[in-house]
Amino acid sequence: MIPPLADQTLTAGPYSLIPLARGDAPDLLVLFRDPTVVEFMDIEPLANLKGAKDIILWAQEMAERNRGLRWAIRRSGSPTLIGTVGFNTLELDRGFRGEIAYDLAQAYWGQGVMSEILPYVMAFGFETLGLHRLEAMVTVGNLRSCRLLERHGFTLEGQLKDHAFWKGRFWDQLVYGRLAD
Ligand SMILES: CC(C)(COP(=O)(O)OP(=O)(O)OC[C@H]1O[C@@H](n2cnc3c(N)ncnc32)[C@H](O)[C@@H]1OP(=O)(O)O)[C@@H](O)C(=O)NCCC(=O)NCCS
Repeated sequence: MIPPLADQTLTAGPYSLIPLARGDAPDLLVLFRDPTVVEFMDIEPLANLKGAKDIILWAQEMAERNRGLRWAIRRSGSPTLIGTVGFNTLELDRGFRGEIAYDLAQAYWGQGVMSEILPYVMAFGFETLGLHRLEAMVTVGNLRSCRLLERHGFTLEGQLKDHAFWKGRFWDQLVYGRLAD
């Protein structure tokens, strides 16, 4: 049994991770209306607050069903949301695996922020949730994401042809995996 995810907070070094909540909508709009941030993601740049609220609802429903979890990232003590991280899916019936996902506002790229946070998220997956496998799906060309995963012991396992469809076209996806030690 895993703990109820909807109220799981996590301290990740100097960062605090709190499940996305309704009040995060304005900050999430700022994050995801940046075309550079969403370039390799499955969403168009957000145009309005409704788009941000829909993402939060998706995250909350997934957490309530213990099928995934998405945290807002803030530097502890700061009100500014700088990104999100979590598990897009959790498979606990026919496997013990979770798909991690993450994003940062562009101003925070290139400083090792996600590299500092990811080990805590991985430990949460392996230890708190008891997962055996972590995986990540990366759109071809998202080199920063590939580098991040490779720095944290994920292995490129293959390229799924036309695995995803969004923004009006199919996309190949790279599969990265890391098993529990
Ligand atoms: C994916 C994403 C989070 C990676 O961000 P990032 O800043 O490259 O990743 P990190 O936080 O690990 O930082 C690594 C960079 O910081 C540098 N760095 C500085 N100090 C560092 C430290 N103490 N430790 C590690 N890296 C450090 C590294 O050299 C590296 O820079 P480089 O890529 O120019 O060589 C970011 O590009 C992003 O939000 N993209 C948009 C959303 C997205 O595509 N998400 C992924 C979907 S699969």
